[in-house]
Amino acid sequence: MTDDLSPIERAKCVAARRSCDFVESGMRVGLGSGSTAEWMVRRLGERVRDEGLDFVGVPTSNRTAKLAREVGIRVSTLDEVKWLDITIDGADEFDGAFNLIKGGGGAALHEKIVATASDRMVVIADAAKDVKALGAFPLPVEIIPFGWETTRALVEELLGDMDVLGREAELRMRGEEPFVSDEGNYFLDLRLHRIGNPRQLSLMLNQIPGVVENGLFIGICDTVVVGFGNGKVEVRKLDAGTAGEAAPEGGAVRNIFADSGE
Ligand code: A5P
Repeated sequence: MTDDLSPIERAKCVAARRSCDFVESGMRVGLGSGSTAEWMVRRLGERVRDEGLDFVGVPTSNRTAKLAREVGIRVSTLDEVKWLDITIDGADEFDGAFNLIKGGGGAALHEKIVATASDRMVVIADAAKDVKALGAFPLPVEIIPFGWETTRALVEELLGDMDVLGREAELRMRGEEPFVSDEGNYFLDLRLHRIGNPRQLSLMLNQIPGVVENGLFIGICDTVVVGFGNGKVEVRKLDAGTAGEAAPEGGAVRNIFADSGE
């Protein structure tokens, strides 16, 4: 069924379809956003229709919510279900410790809230997103529109003190207007090239008052399902390694939010 797809779309599609095997009836499932997540939502819709799979989905964007309803998934909100068994979502980059850059599609704030409220987070990605160090993909930072130029100046000043290779923060545009998130916020895309200490950068960015959240997901993801252009799929687990492969460096998942209790 993936014969007509380009290698990159095939890789996304096979990873997304494989991740749906983690979903069982009775679960509360966070539904990610982006082109890879759309394959996942469609596949879950198939399973609802063909197998009677019965679960509740919590979408991370208006776009995913619309698609989920269209394919027959029962949709709820995080406020209603409060905690989730699993979230499945795409990523823009992932490293060997399963730290992520997300938000290229503009939904990272909801995605981070939903993933953090989940027992586990499964990322679905094509192999090109597997990087040694995060940062080639511009890091999205969601900011309040009020005083955004001041926020940008503070972000650029901060970057001068961080272990990164760039300090340019560009306002994301849609045509002539700033891109606006589902929450009505703007985005800065930070061209950092290489992020030496993602945990520190994430914590420091969120100290700036106009910053709502950044696209670094640290210690949240425990499984990555990687798709390849030839249709091969690999399931990598942080604690158990991958069948036939060395375990990624970085040890067990250590959620960044654990730091607040230390
Ligand atoms: C959406 O805001 C993002 O976090 C996406 O999950 C990420 O950009 C991956 O998108 P694709 O699956 O479209 O590459």
